[in-house]
Amino acid sequence: MQNFDYMTPTRLVFGKGVVEKLPAALAPIGKKVLLTYGGGSIKRIGLYDKVLELLKGFEIVELPGIQPNPKYDPSVLDGVRLCKEHGIEVILAVGGGSVLDCSKAIAAGACYDGDPWDLITYKVKAKAALPIVDIITLAATGSEYDSGGVISRTDTNDKIGYIDPLLYPAVSFLDPTYTFSVSRKQTAAGIADAMNHTIEQYFAEDTTLLNDGFCESMLRSLMVNGRKCLENPEDYTARAEMMLCCTYGCNDILSLGNSPSGWPCHGIEHALSGYYDITHGEGLAIITPRWMDHILSGRTLGRFVKYGINVFGIDPSLDPWEIARKAIDATYSFFESIGIPMHLREVGIDDSRIGEMAHHIAVNEGLEEAYVPLDEQAIKEILIASL
Ligand code: NZQ
Ligand code: ZN
Repeated sequence: MQNFDYMTPTRLVFGKGVVEKLPAALAPIGKKVLLTYGGGSIKRIGLYDKVLELLKGFEIVELPGIQPNPKYDPSVLDGVRLCKEHGIEVILAVGGGSVLDCSKAIAAGACYDGDPWDLITYKVKAKAALPIVDIITLAATGSEYDSGGVISRTDTNDKIGYIDPLLYPAVSFLDPTYTFSVSRKQTAAGIADAMNHTIEQYFAEDTTLLNDGFCESMLRSLMVNGRKCLENPEDYTARAEMMLCCTYGCNDILSLGNSPSGWPCHGIEHALSGYYDITHGEGLAIITPRWMDHILSGRTLGRFVKYGINVFGIDPSLDPWEIARKAIDATYSFFESIGIPMHLREVGIDDSRIGEMAHHIAVNEGLEEAYVPLDEQAIKEILIASL
């Protein structure tokens, strides 16, 4: 087992109606609030009105319109400007992962005098960040329990994971009823995102029985409960378990003590959504089985066999290579069965920029260090197989 040094300082407040605790949680943190949100879903589900009612007595400045794959310009820049102009003390992010990620970059940018891009690109290490409280309305990214935010810059096609312990939310409110309204497309993408977060951590050189079991259980739960959410979007029990699974997905708790895996599918997907603005979870679902095909070898066979038997219930008496093949097919079939388009062409990506993207990924994502190292040629082959 590898050494680790771990802390997640975020307070999780989970369950139906927990948003009532928002004023009490927010008051000791700050009275001047930047309320960030997306394109209007929080208004349609009545959450916007609820938050304003609860926060009477707080001074609220709003940053609406944060888009999926949140943009540096205008959203991060506008948010930083508003924080500085109004002396904001705390950011309240209400929405999906994009709203929260954008808020994290704003939180750091608000405490920095230079261009916030310096922080996002790690040219400068942030010395401070505003505290963040969130009400997450989409189960997917795990941003509510991690210290990362992913920011896109359209002029350079960059999509960068900005990670800093300063960015952990202080408090995250998770009420599964707010996810009842999430569309089929976004629910399926959320299942795929959280499954991939788990797979990224499961496929590593050194793992423990404990972590393997945690990951296998996460994957089974996400498949079972994810299907139930799609069949009945208002199934509270299923939405609740899916939400908690997603929360665990991205804060390293599934892989404490494991050797690093390099998160290769994310490295590849971030370029797809950086260049084409596609839905993150869909890009991951398309890439994952092709990446699995690519890395299956004598060295990795044992991982695939364990995954196939414990996650998909494949007959352990079969030949190991057959188990591995069936496991990859089962991964593909599950994503397809929940309605995810399984080819890049179906999400608007053709072969015209494959070489450019492969180069961008090879230069920026460090995948030579991944569990199975991927050079530019390997990345290109995975992208071509995904077309
Ligand atoms: O903008 P609004 O109107 O709010 O609509 C959103 C958006 O159109 C909608 N939505 C959110 N909650 C809803 C709802 N619709 C109905 N009812 C609700 N309750 O869903 C759409 C997608 O929202 P978005 O926030 O983009 O989705 P998600 O939470 O999947 O976030 C995706 C972003 O997170 C990044 C991705 O790369 C992508 O940019 N990631 C962040 C991570 C992190 N911070 O740790 C890790 C992930 O791997 C991922 O990279
Ligand atoms: Zn993800």
